[in-house]
Amino acid sequence: MPLKESELSLIHLIYVSTATEELDDVELDRIMDSSVRRNTAARITGMLLYAGGNFMQVLEGPEADVDATMLRIAADPRHHGLVVIDRCAIDQRSFGAWHMGYRRVCRLDMQSHPSLAPYLSNGIDADGIAARPGLAIEMLQDFAYGQRLLG
Ligand SMILES: Cc1cc2nc3c(=O)[nH]c(=O)nc-3n(C[C@H](O)[C@H](O)[C@H](O)COP(=O)(O)O)c2cc1C
Repeated sequence: MPLKESELSLIHLIYVSTATEELDDVELDRIMDSSVRRNTAARITGMLLYAGGNFMQVLEGPEADVDATMLRIAADPRHHGLVVIDRCAIDQRSFGAWHMGYRRVCRLDMQSHPSLAPYLSNGIDADGIAARPGLAIEMLQDFAYGQRLLG
């Protein structure tokens, strides 16, 4: 019998990477199609941001599924320079509604999210984000839910 969600140890993993070349919407759609298909089968949920040639993604789900998915993503030639900024146990999912949500961050987002702009205006500042615990997940949630959580 398959294990229930409550019987599995959930983790989230957040990384930042650099697109190998500027990706157009067709290529991003391709990434999203295979992500949603595979993540649905692997009980993975999460969110992908694309800003100035960088990706930031959170994967959440059962530990073994997150790690197996991450290994596959890390080997994908469409990006490189992958830096894991958080990997830890979680009590519950923050992105349960999305087998993978996606937002391309644009210049207007900088105006509507002034507190995030320093971390996003020149690509995604992995070091700056990693230095503030909780910031990555707040940013990803902010874009997923379309609300401003930060002042
Ligand atoms: C930035 C980025 C994010 C990705 N996210 C996921 C993901 O969440 N889940 C996934 O299965 N594949 C993801 N992929 C795609 C995988 O690297 C890989 O191409 C895909 O899983 C292969 O599946 P397929 O051969 O069944 O199409 C991502 C790729 C990139 C470049």
